[in-house]
Amino acid sequence: MGVFFFYFIYIIAIHFDIVFSLVGFHQCRYGYKDVSDLEGVVAGYANASIPLEVMWTDIDYMDAYKDFTLDPVNFPLDRMKNFTNNLHQNGQKYVLILDPGISINDSYGTYTRGKEADIFIKRDGIPYQGNVWPGNVYFPDFVNPQSEPYWENEIKLFLDQLPVDGLWLDMNEVSNFQTSNPTPNSTLDDPPYKINDAGGHRPILSRTIPGSALHFGNVTEYNVHNLFGMLQAKATNKALTNLTGKRPFVLSRSTFVSSGKYTAHWTGDNGAKWSDLAYSIPGILNFGLFGVPMVGADICGFSGDTNEELCRRWIQLGAFYPFSRDHSDKNSIRQELYVWESVAASAKKVLGLRYRLLPLFYTSMYQAHKNGTPIARPVFFSFPEDTNTYSIYSQFLIGKGVMVSPVLQQGANSVEAYFPAGNWFDLFNYTSVSVDSGKNVTLDAPPDHINVHVHEGNILALQGEALTTQAARNTTFELLVVTGSSNESTGELFLDDGEEVEMGGEGGKWSFVRFRSARAQNGSLVLSSKVENGEFALSQGWIIDKITVLGLDKVNATQSSVSLPIGKEFELELKPNQTLTKPKTYL
Ligand code: NOJ
Repeated sequence: MGVFFFYFIYIIAIHFDIVFSLVGFHQCRYGYKDVSDLEGVVAGYANASIPLEVMWTDIDYMDAYKDFTLDPVNFPLDRMKNFTNNLHQNGQKYVLILDPGISINDSYGTYTRGKEADIFIKRDGIPYQGNVWPGNVYFPDFVNPQSEPYWENEIKLFLDQLPVDGLWLDMNEVSNFQTSNPTPNSTLDDPPYKINDAGGHRPILSRTIPGSALHFGNVTEYNVHNLFGMLQAKATNKALTNLTGKRPFVLSRSTFVSSGKYTAHWTGDNGAKWSDLAYSIPGILNFGLFGVPMVGADICGFSGDTNEELCRRWIQLGAFYPFSRDHSDKNSIRQELYVWESVAASAKKVLGLRYRLLPLFYTSMYQAHKNGTPIARPVFFSFPEDTNTYSIYSQFLIGKGVMVSPVLQQGANSVEAYFPAGNWFDLFNYTSVSVDSGKNVTLDAPPDHINVHVHEGNILALQGEALTTQAARNTTFELLVVTGSSNESTGELFLDDGEEVEMGGEGGKWSFVRFRSARAQNGSLVLSSKVENGEFALSQGWIIDKITVLGLDKVNATQSSVSLPIGKEFELELKPNQTLTKPKTYL
């Protein structure tokens, strides 16, 4: 069972690729009212010196909620172009939403071209009519191979006007505001199974496309219902790759097996509630195991009004989601991270650490691509021999050795966290927690602090704090070597330009480095690297200029400065003839 399970993950996740800027911080909201509003938000982040990588816009930008159009009054093309250009000049990105329903309107090109290509899902021989934001709509049939050129052409026409950096696919379950009448006696529209969803036991065709609708090749909706989101993400991914020649940036609400190959995912409309803050962890861990490693929940909560304390605790946790985006509903109060002073201060602190850890997030993505391991992992992933870890869903790991133990309760100033055996170091202040065998530890968690620890046996490549990933990628590297009783520490680092179509592809420009440290018999610490394809790292001039060793009592620095090109293999010996306090930084 275990072997089958991991093999399954391997199959569905391999070749997953994510553009580097997805690992930055994202700001979104349903209800930004015009371009000035968007500009104000970007300026708000800049003025507060909080990292902002990607600005998003919900359906508000559209003309009457029609895909691939702009509201001429509030989001006119010239202002939108200017806004997008400014973001790009600042090393930032812009992403827009798309919904699957195409408005039925003879003066709307996306509709007339779809009708011409006979691309819509049908029922009773004519396109099936649903109802979503723009009113009456038809839905493109992504089972039809012709949907791909159709969709690509629509995206092309739009990108030719406004070169946005990614697409967000919403409502693709498919969500429908109306429930159609079942075909009499149809076991497809009214099977003996009910859905236990938000409305209780509802008919299966409730607020979606009825099961008797037909796709290309007379395939029933009943049989392919769950594939819509995955096939739409696949078509969108392919279109963006073809049109830009770069690794695409896609986010989808609906997913299925193998979706992780084409898209990132967010967990949908949560509430601004403490319980939803806590539920976000199992939600994210599940998706990692399902082969969708790039996943996050709406930070500070989507529906209902958030508040300062909840939003502060949420960004402290959300800064460590693989996909880190603040998003809120139109009817709720504003919750950008600069709105409250204490939230802004926490955001700077935790996003500062996230940006220092970008090489870990990105290398974990590469590992997801190669062997299907999630980016955010349940604690049992690295400690399978410790059965106490199996039931933990209030803590998680990033990669193999960084553990996040957030506050999930209102008013709490401490957190009860489980620590598997060994030495652990707080990544903000290097204080340590040492446990001989796994146990619960009560940790201080004052209002501005989240506990994030690294376990002995790990080597992390860190970069500098910055307001964009582009700026962070221009900083030098620090190696954080975390030693302990296990004697050996290891770490990996994957590097490329962040947008070459395939991560680590044959003939591509990328570098991969394995770091290792071990204690020699004379007590020295020997730190070395093995490099695959060093040329790319060398061409970028990336160097390690600082090595910090944690967990050693006695060791000596043989040199007071290091300047090690990442693309070249090295071996360093730190000799044991000097007592140093820990942690020790070699500069
Ligand atoms: C539902 C999505 O889940 C939400 O994120 C979005 O803001 C609204 N649709 C409006 O487009």
